[in-house]
Amino acid sequence: MTAAETLTAQLGAELDEMQAKGTLKDLRVYESPQGPEVKLRGLGDVTVLSSNDYLGMADNPAVIEAGVEALKKYGAGTASVRFICGLFEPHLELERDLADFLGTGSSLSYVSCWTANHAILDALSDKGTHIFSDELNHASIIDAMKLARPGGKSIYPHSDMDALEAALIENAGAERKLVVTDGVFSMEGDLANLPRLVELCEEHEAVLIVDDSHGLGVLGETGRGTAEHFGLHGRVDIITGTLGKALGGGAGGFVAGSSELCRVLEQRSRPQLFSNGLPPTVAASARQALIELRDSPQLVERLRRNTAAYRGMLIEAGFDPIPGDSAIVPVLVGETSRAIEISRKMLEDGVFVTGFGYPVVPEGTARIRSQISAAMEDWQLEKAVAAMTRAAT
Ligand SMILES: Cc1ncc(COP(=O)(O)O)c(C=O)c1O
Repeated sequence: MTAAETLTAQLGAELDEMQAKGTLKDLRVYESPQGPEVKLRGLGDVTVLSSNDYLGMADNPAVIEAGVEALKKYGAGTASVRFICGLFEPHLELERDLADFLGTGSSLSYVSCWTANHAILDALSDKGTHIFSDELNHASIIDAMKLARPGGKSIYPHSDMDALEAALIENAGAERKLVVTDGVFSMEGDLANLPRLVELCEEHEAVLIVDDSHGLGVLGETGRGTAEHFGLHGRVDIITGTLGKALGGGAGGFVAGSSELCRVLEQRSRPQLFSNGLPPTVAASARQALIELRDSPQLVERLRRNTAAYRGMLIEAGFDPIPGDSAIVPVLVGETSRAIEISRKMLEDGVFVTGFGYPVVPEGTARIRSQISAAMEDWQLEKAVAAMTRAAT
């Protein structure tokens, strides 16, 4: 056997093992845009509760039109990285509007929030830097922590503010202290204790970085995110986020902070130097989604109402969703194979909701994670609860 044949055989055995354990993921193919009702190949019409299209922007006509217009005007892209060939007007417009919306001086787009998190933690780290990170932060932050080379790193237990305070005191001598947290933790749907984080960072002269991928467009009166939810708009030093959820659902991410921060990241963060920027069509669509959100804050209210209604329906049906203020509604079901089985049965009933298991969440805490959209109607929420009831019993 050649080395390549051996590798293929090993990978085949790995896939067979996943299949046998019932953990092999089966990917769906869409034949329509994302939204509460979609067409899936081989399955027909299906209600979706597994998307982060919180505000229904993925199929918003103005968002689509903005992308189409940008594609016609600017083509597909510069066919180069930003520092060599530059960028397009939609990038500047998006970055300016994001900064205005979030109350930061500036923002800088990346092809994903994954990339943005890697960029910032790497670029801000040197021997004098100590990074403090919540253990349940998103995988992009966990991996960024592995890649970055600060002088020291502390991973504190989830939302344990006493542990964070102790670590800040222990590392008081670090020249630069960065505290990084998700705003909304994506697997639990719970929020960071932002009031205490802001207080601790001020007290211990640390910079606070919040990844608000699941808070933006969802939390706060006007959808400005976790900071607005807690009455702390403008008090978070650096915000990172995705454009692939509430803001159009395509792709893209950003870092929002001071103009000095964004200029330095543009100069020397590695994804800016060695990887193409956001396609202009995506930048234009995301900017339009931001405009729609800014002009229609009632969308956020509708999302909140739908989420509360869904939680109520689940509880009435005998489920015990993890409590929280976000639009993520997880129901714990135990083993990974059970979560996969429940979501498979729900799909047979025309409801697409993903079961999450190990290694995405700890063993034994597999869950059915529903995500709610402002675009949903009550009948879709009721249909989902009925399907979950049938599948779980
Ligand atoms: C908290 C958080 N950060 C970052 C990301 C990555 O976002 P993107 O898809 O833009 O890379 C996600 C996506 O799942 C997320 O939930």
